[in-house]
Amino acid sequence: MFLMKDIVRDGDPVLRKRAAKVNFPLSDEDQTLAKKMMEYLEVSQDPELCKKYGLRAGVGLAAPQVGVSKQMAAVLVPAAEEDGKPEFKDVIINPVIVSESVQYGALTEGEGCLSVDKDVPGYVPRHDRITLRYQDTDGETHKIRLKNYPAIVCQHEIDHLHGVLFYDHINKKQPFEAPADTIMIS
Ligand code: NI
Repeated sequence: MFLMKDIVRDGDPVLRKRAAKVNFPLSDEDQTLAKKMMEYLEVSQDPELCKKYGLRAGVGLAAPQVGVSKQMAAVLVPAAEEDGKPEFKDVIINPVIVSESVQYGALTEGEGCLSVDKDVPGYVPRHDRITLRYQDTDGETHKIRLKNYPAIVCQHEIDHLHGVLFYDHINKKQPFEAPADTIMIS
């Protein structure tokens, strides 16, 4: 199981590389990687286990963040209401944003990242709605529409596959200035 010591931190060149496409069928190694990345998110979202293993809770983890430069990321956006189904849960492989809204969205609290230890305050403007195409671990292609929080999380993870970190998007001079009519997501 991945622990915080396995998470690559900002400053490591792997976080700034463009990750390679993944071939199918997945190798055993890639299958294991996918499982372990999702497992990290599941365990980190359980308050007791999170504490027990000294993790930071996360909703997304990309392969470069564990030192593997491949286009693969686990995403687990918990249910909006208790006992509901997760808003989005899958390991997204070779993901491509095929279309995006003109409308921006940003999290009111800004963003955080398991690879970035310091707090970087500021809005991270992203597209509020996206159409995402990706392959799952079975190699099946999905084309889905996401909006608001799950769309933001997927864009953050896909950025990791392109060597981009969330704070790259923050307006350096006016960190809390978002483009006009940005939807604020809490
Ligand atoms: Ni991140």
